This record gives sequence, C-alpha cells and structure tokens, in this order.
Amino acid sequence: MKFPPVIILIGFMGAGKTSTGNDLAKLLHFDFLDTDHWIEEKNKKNVIQIFKENGEIFFRSEEKKVIGWIRNHGKSVISIGGGLWMDEKNRNQLLSLGWCVWLKVSPETAWKRVKMHLEQRPLLAQTKDPLAEIKNMMEKRDPIYQSAHSRFLTDDKDSKQVANEILKLLKRNSIIDLS
Ligand code: S3P
Repeated sequence: MKFPPVIILIGFMGAGKTSTGNDLAKLLHFDFLDTDHWIEEKNKKNVIQIFKENGEIFFRSEEKKVIGWIRNHGKSVISIGGGLWMDEKNRNQLLSLGWCVWLKVSPETAWKRVKMHLEQRPLLAQTKDPLAEIKNMMEKRDPIYQSAHSRFLTDDKDSKQVANEILKLLKRNSIIDLS
C-alpha cells in the first residue's frame, strides 16, 4: 500500500529526529517540519518557557493542534516531539497521515546526546538523576513507540546514515510515490 508522501519521525529525546529529518528531507526534496518549532513560533516562546509559564497540559494541548497543520501540508518529513505519540488519538491520526518511523535509541545514548543542553529539556532539567529518569520514561514509552510502521536503531549511527537507511527502505518497498 502506498502512503501519502509524508514521513513522520517519532521517538525519545536524543534519538536524532531533527537531524535525521533534515537530512532525509534534503534527500527526498521534501519540506522539513518540526512540531516543537511550530509550537514555539505560534506561542512566540521556546518550549522551556512554555512549560514554565503555561505548564505541560497547555503544551500537550498545543501538540494536538499540530495534527491539523500536518494534515494540510504536502510532501514533507516531520519530526514530532517525543511525547506527542503518547496520546492515542494523536497516534491514530498520525498513522493514517503518513509513514511513521520510530527512531530507537538506548537510554545511555539519549543521555549522552541531551546532556550538553539539558537546560532545553523541561522534563529532565529539574530531575536529580536524569539518566534514571530517561530509563524510567523509556520503559513506559518504548512499548507505545513500537506501534510505528517501522523502526530504526540510531545508537551508533549519524543522522546521514539513518536518513539513507530510511530512504533505501522507502524505495525498496515502494512505500510512497517518489516520482
Ligand atoms: C518532550 C520532548 C521534546 C519536547 C518537550 C517534551 C517529551 O521534544 O517536545 O520537551 O515529552 O519527550 P524532542 O523529542 O524533539 O526533544
């Protein structure tokens, strides 16, 4: 079955969704969209400020509105915030809007990648033991991320390698119309 020309990258913080998404969009000549960025532009503040000033519930309600924006966009690669997939309705809508790819990362690699800019991660910045929190969150989230159409491990790869692997699979299985 052919999917609409929309690739949706899901997964935990530090999985490489943004960098892989950018690389894949270039390879496909598609637009690259990032849901956190859309929410930041709309609210004229960054994710950290939104969590601090408006709270997580507000942020999650903004994430739901992103779906409408995705629906109205053409050929695109979309990186979605790590928590957006946790909502069942969001998940079901995204699964019908495009081909959903889980970028899977180990807790240790996620920690290595996010610790440089921990201040930009509202769910981890305030915790005493961020690696333990990552493990705890991943344990709950991984079984849900698993419902994506496909999965790629990103631990020992850079974003260009992952983007190329995704492209190969897209072509091999004629998942979307690339003409
Ligand atoms: C979140 C992940 C972040 C951002 C917010 C919440 C999460 O996005 O949406 O800090 O709940 O996992 P990235 O996954 O792009 O880092």
